[in-house]
Amino acid sequence: MKKIIAAFTLLLAGTYAAAEQADYNVIPLPKSVDVDATQTMTLRTGMGIAYDAGNPEASRNAQFLRAWVEEVTGIRLELTPADKKAAVKMLVAPQKKLKKGQTLTAQEAEAYTIVVDKKGLTLCAASQTGLFRAAQTLRKSLPVAKGLTEVELPFVKITDQPRFEYRGVMLDCARHYFPLETLKKYIDVAALHGCNQLHWHLTEDQGWRFEVKALPELAKKGSVREQTVIGHNTNIYDGQRYGGYYTQAECRELVNYAAERYINIIPEIDLPGHMMGALHVYPNLGCTGGPYPVWTMWGVSEEVLCAGNPETLTFLKTVIGELCDVFPSKYIHIGGDECPKIRWKECAKCQAKAKELGLKDDGKHSIENQLQTYINHEMEKFLSERGRDMIGWDEVLEGGLTDHGIVMSWRGIDGGIEAARQHHRVIMAPTSYCYIDYYQLKETSSQPLAIGGYLPVSKVYSFEPIVPETLSEDEQKYILGPQVNLWTEYVLYPQHVFYMLLPRLDAISEVQWCRSDQKDFDNFKARLPRMKALYDHLGISYCPKIE
Ligand code: ACM
Ligand code: ZN
Repeated sequence: MKKIIAAFTLLLAGTYAAAEQADYNVIPLPKSVDVDATQTMTLRTGMGIAYDAGNPEASRNAQFLRAWVEEVTGIRLELTPADKKAAVKMLVAPQKKLKKGQTLTAQEAEAYTIVVDKKGLTLCAASQTGLFRAAQTLRKSLPVAKGLTEVELPFVKITDQPRFEYRGVMLDCARHYFPLETLKKYIDVAALHGCNQLHWHLTEDQGWRFEVKALPELAKKGSVREQTVIGHNTNIYDGQRYGGYYTQAECRELVNYAAERYINIIPEIDLPGHMMGALHVYPNLGCTGGPYPVWTMWGVSEEVLCAGNPETLTFLKTVIGELCDVFPSKYIHIGGDECPKIRWKECAKCQAKAKELGLKDDGKHSIENQLQTYINHEMEKFLSERGRDMIGWDEVLEGGLTDHGIVMSWRGIDGGIEAARQHHRVIMAPTSYCYIDYYQLKETSSQPLAIGGYLPVSKVYSFEPIVPETLSEDEQKYILGPQVNLWTEYVLYPQHVFYMLLPRLDAISEVQWCRSDQKDFDNFKARLPRMKALYDHLGISYCPKIE
């Protein structure tokens, strides 16, 4: 009898282990998920993945899929590129019939389907980018469990395509420096959520972090501050020298790492303000001549690059020229935010330049704001000669927008709306929905110190980047997409980076991928525990509570 019970228990245990099932309710939620739960396919160790062996990109994506399946479940698939009967297939095929002369939109180029049926598991996409997105969706669908050898996949047809072509996430590595390993993890997490742009904020009053070969002292000296203020500008300092910068070789390594995960890196050199890192090394570029310490406190310095000194443009072109050599991104960010004009108003060189340019206060644009537009114009021309498009924070509107500048709307969405009306492209990143350096819980005493504010997950989730009442259908097309920004004055350690990022990135990923009528916060909340289980499994920190 004992033997029978033991055998029965074993049988039950076996049945239980095999009953681990995939669940396609992932984040971001695909456009459509049609499940037939009455039938399943068993995905088990030893099964093969077929793909286009002649294409290194296809091979890389098959390796990603294999690695992820093993990482999440323990199931080991084989790479069997030419096996037409393989249980898992990764195919590139048109997802849409094109009429003559028609081309795919950026979003359509990322479209994919996942089908589980009698024939097995088939990932199919318009491009390798789409196949990568499909593999991520499958990865998130799998049960997080160690040491499995098989999983049941309910029959399903998933179709998906992102709502917005631009799906960004920003990290400030100037207020605090984060090692390459952290940046790679940040990219992995962004890719897990279907983002395709990493906006990398590289220079600040508190440190310059991009190596410029023609100006070797710039990063060496400009990256180091003597100490850092404790808390919110308390006037008490930690007495610790702080520094770090990224060599061009490291930047290239990161660009390649991101590109393999279908993420473009947009570097930002913030100009002409937020420049104390550079002014410290080249005080002749400031209106007063300095000296300028690399800033040890938070806020906005009144010391900025002199707009009337011709050496300023030479300096900027040297920096941006090397930036373009290192970063292949079509978009280059030139900052432009928070540039006080106090020095420019009093500087003989700046005023002489304004006169030479014939700038007059027209009631809408001050002379000094137009002086900033003059610099922006020079940068735009320089970038355009290199085939790049310029992005600037919404202050670039204040002196009159340049010809092709893309506006990153951060002080609300009004700047973005104004730019779209002028037929300029826009990235929506308003503080009210997208500043993830703000607290995410109302009760702040149990949380790490933050800059302030209150931006809970629910608020991020509720963001609608296109307000139809304010923009015509044609104007709406200029909204490229939304982005969350993580400033790091108060974020010192990698673990804290991910605590601030997650799960607010989950929320913005649905804003980036889903139609607004598809979004449902309660439904989102119900899907979140499975993402958290994956974060636990991968050793990624996150804020456990949501509001
Ligand atoms: C910004 O937050 N100063 C763009
Ligand atoms: Zn000046």
